[in-house]
Amino acid sequence: MAELPTLAVVGATGAVGTVMLDILSSRKNVWGEIRLIASPRSAGRKLTVRGEQVEVVALSEDAFDGVDVAMFDVPDEVSAKWAPIAASCGVVAVDNSGAFRMDPDVPLVVPEINPEQTRNRPKGIIANANCTTLAMIVAIAPLHREYGLRELVLASYQAVSGAGQIGVDTLHDQLAKVAGDRTLGSRTGNVRHAVGDDLGPFPAPLALNVVPWAGSLKEAGWSSEELKMRNESRKILGLPDLKVSATCVRVPVATGHSVAVHAVFGSEVDADGAREVLNGAPGVIVVDDPANGEFPMPIDAVGTDPSWVGRIRRSMDDPRSLDFFVTGDNLRKGAALNTAQIAELLASELTRR
Ligand SMILES: NC(=O)c1ccc[n+]([C@@H]2O[C@H](COP(=O)([O-])OP(=O)(O)OC[C@H]3O[C@@H](n4cnc5c(N)ncnc54)[C@H](OP(=O)(O)O)[C@@H]3O)[C@@H](O)[C@H]2O)c1
Repeated sequence: MAELPTLAVVGATGAVGTVMLDILSSRKNVWGEIRLIASPRSAGRKLTVRGEQVEVVALSEDAFDGVDVAMFDVPDEVSAKWAPIAASCGVVAVDNSGAFRMDPDVPLVVPEINPEQTRNRPKGIIANANCTTLAMIVAIAPLHREYGLRELVLASYQAVSGAGQIGVDTLHDQLAKVAGDRTLGSRTGNVRHAVGDDLGPFPAPLALNVVPWAGSLKEAGWSSEELKMRNESRKILGLPDLKVSATCVRVPVATGHSVAVHAVFGSEVDADGAREVLNGAPGVIVVDDPANGEFPMPIDAVGTDPSWVGRIRRSMDDPRSLDFFVTGDNLRKGAALNTAQIAELLASELTRR
């Protein structure tokens, strides 16, 4: 293939799709045509990518004509149906949804960790990991290589944009309703009353609150998001027996997922050594100076590419255990950026042919 490959962005109008268009506009240009696809509701809308206005087309088999790589930034059920259709048309599908992540014939790729897996795609589909897993896994992987990971105990602090554009709109609407009333939150139920029925995609108000729930109910009381963190970490790291316990919590943050990590290793760790490993790790930035109020936080990480890591401490009770806090932009590394990086690996493979 002499000319640059053609890319399709399916779900170009959504929360992830919007960030994807920004990312495609700012990274090295490896694409010929970029085609924008969404539901029939958005057909005809014009969006800007690489400084040009491009008309959105409705998702259909014809929309994949001449496409080499298609990114799917759409709900699970849309990917589950359409990624295999795209693949049957000869397109390599890079899927951001949860539809294929645990399929043994679909690699789950984080380019900093297992880029070689992009070539192992018997179904013509490559999966992008869940946003909360991605925020922490780029920091966990280099520590695993150094110290040999045995167990993870995780607590997430997940932003509302993880539930799509509707999550962001819901939080802002709720914040407008509670703004200025300093009595709210001082009596049981009064925040619920102020917010009313406008809960959007969440089971409880997010304004002035945290909600220890993300995803859907799965076996033995675990949520789907908690099981994703366990299963995807195991698959990406190639550690099928890794012990992982996660508690996923939604917080009133627009964008930026954070995770408090307790990691147990096979060998002894020390905080300075871990800092050195993380300082040299691709996709990681260490921000760890609590004496001067420097911690990784969503308000600083939003709009940036790396995972920000800080609060690095060796356990007081176990020299093989490390605790740290990590924050990453769930719409960039947690979704669009990781997909763009996978697609760029494919672009160079296809361009070399
Ligand atoms: N938000 C995150 O932090 C995050 C992180 C990682 C992965 N993901 C995953 O990425 C995917 C997109 O998430 P999002 O947050 O961007 O969702 P979103 O804001 O709700 O956007 C959904 C996109 O899918 C399109 N779409 C919906 N139904 C469609 C259909 N039947 N045919 C064609 N297009 C359809 C929408 O097009 P219209 O505008 O035309 O309706 C829109 O472009 C989801 O699978 C999500 O789980 C999200």
